[in-house]
Amino acid sequence: MLSQLVYVSNRTNKPSEKEIEDILEACKRNNPDLGITGALLYSDEKFLQLVEGENSTIMGLYDKIKQDKRHENCVMLSYMPIKEKSFPSWHMGSKKIKSDSIDYKTNITPEDKVIFSSLLSGNEADGSKTKEIIQKFFK
Ligand SMILES: Cc1cc2nc3c(=O)[nH]c(=O)nc-3n(C[C@H](O)[C@H](O)[C@H](O)COP(=O)(O)O)c2cc1C
Repeated sequence: MLSQLVYVSNRTNKPSEKEIEDILEACKRNNPDLGITGALLYSDEKFLQLVEGENSTIMGLYDKIKQDKRHENCVMLSYMPIKEKSFPSWHMGSKKIKSDSIDYKTNITPEDKVIFSSLLSGNEADGSKTKEIIQKFFK
């Protein structure tokens, strides 16, 4: 069964592009074989990642990611079965978001902004809505 998991976490190190590159390297190395796709949004303080793939694989990966010292306080925001992947062509799309606000030109509505801020604060949310908002960052 295909599932999608979204979590938010706090970065522990001084933010650097090298750190992001290293994480994306690991994604490139491992995710294709695992059949995992998704998106990683990050600010100087936070990671917000959506991963999608087979249920059993997702849980194993999340357990591994949670133990990574580059972040802490991983909070699962949503976890649900999906019919198909929404990020099929990326191993792990990534995008920097400006400190914890969305102040650039996406077609994000005021309602989305409220939901997104709430996500960054670690509040659970509707998984489909969360996915839609994350997708908007890549349009
Ligand atoms: C925010 C964040 C997201 C990550 N996402 C992934 C991921 O999607 N896939 C992955 O294999 N590793 C991911 N990692 C890295 C893993 O925690 C781990 O370091 C890596 O999988 C080890 O790879 P290796 O077994 O090939 O050495 C992520 C780490 C962080 C901090």
